[in-house]
Amino acid sequence: MLLDTYGRVATDLRVSLTDRCNLRCTYCMPEEGLQWLAKPELLTDDEVVRLVRIAVTLLGVEEVRFTGGEPLLRPGLVGIVERCAALDPRPQLSLTTNGIGLERTADALREAGLDRVNVSLDTLDAGTFARMTRRKRHGDVLRGLAAARAAGLAPVKVNAVLMPGLNEDEAPDLLAWAIERNYELRFIEQMPLDAQHGWRREGMVTAGDILASLRTRFSLTPEGADSRGSAPAERWLVDGGPHRVGVIASVTRPFCRACDRTRLTADGQVRTCLFAREESDLRGALRSGAADEEIAELWRTAMRGKKAGSGLDDPSFLQPDRPMSSIGG
Ligand SMILES: C[S@@+](CC[C@H](N)C(=O)[O-])C[C@H]1O[C@@H](n2cnc3c(N)ncnc32)[C@H](O)[C@@H]1O
Repeated sequence: MLLDTYGRVATDLRVSLTDRCNLRCTYCMPEEGLQWLAKPELLTDDEVVRLVRIAVTLLGVEEVRFTGGEPLLRPGLVGIVERCAALDPRPQLSLTTNGIGLERTADALREAGLDRVNVSLDTLDAGTFARMTRRKRHGDVLRGLAAARAAGLAPVKVNAVLMPGLNEDEAPDLLAWAIERNYELRFIEQMPLDAQHGWRREGMVTAGDILASLRTRFSLTPEGADSRGSAPAERWLVDGGPHRVGVIASVTRPFCRACDRTRLTADGQVRTCLFAREESDLRGALRSGAADEEIAELWRTAMRGKKAGSGLDDPSFLQPDRPMSSIGG
């Protein structure tokens, strides 16, 4: 079990499969100049599967989410999913992706054992998409989403970040669009995890702003604290249901007390939190011949160092050295 000193148990593992991405979202990456991890530093497919196996069979992890960077850029993704789906006990398997290429891979991923996808899409307007991501790939994302739904990767969730002056007025349109297609929409507050360190609290669109904007068109009924559990999203029923909308207010209403996550970077470092400033090296142990139980013990020790909270409200808060794309979002 991955127990921390505040009594939280981590059962949800985020695995970054690459730090590379085919978009350059302004709140995440600079246009150019970001140093990629070198290939030998990346865990191999076998190493990823071995660490997931240790997490699932020795440490009580129940859910594994593959992310990045852009996980669809990882050549071995389908094979990794297939091997993780064959583990006993079988973990829930999901993917966070920008959707580019999902049109071609959704069926294979489903067949390999993927249960769900979250696709990131911030805007319905192709021009705004190009300004926010610095790439003209809006159509690819929409086709990827449709393919995910057709492949039965249900529920298809859509993650949206709102940025002032770019798409901050799109919340109601995005929700109407998602409801029409039976996608479950969740807004994520912008966090200080951009490689350029450009985040300013004063400039961000808050959960309060998002809810006020949605309420200009929809009635929202809170689902209640109990239904949130350890999920980061607070959820509301839209116009009485059955559709819902979620808001992940990592900055203004953090959910650290119920956090059940542990993270593995693409180069084999355990992180206890997106905002952690420390990492524990599992790749070194793997490559120096450590046994499964030794690696499991390193992971347990790492989790005992998990802080009570993200520290975002602390005046001495320092942004982590790694950006979101390298930690795994
Ligand atoms: C880092 S991406 C990785 C997976 C994949 N490339 C994708 O687009 O979903 C995961 C999620 O993090 C979000 N994200 C990236 N930088 C962020 C930031 N600074 N604040 C909040 N969310 C961010 C993205 O919008 C995306 O929904």
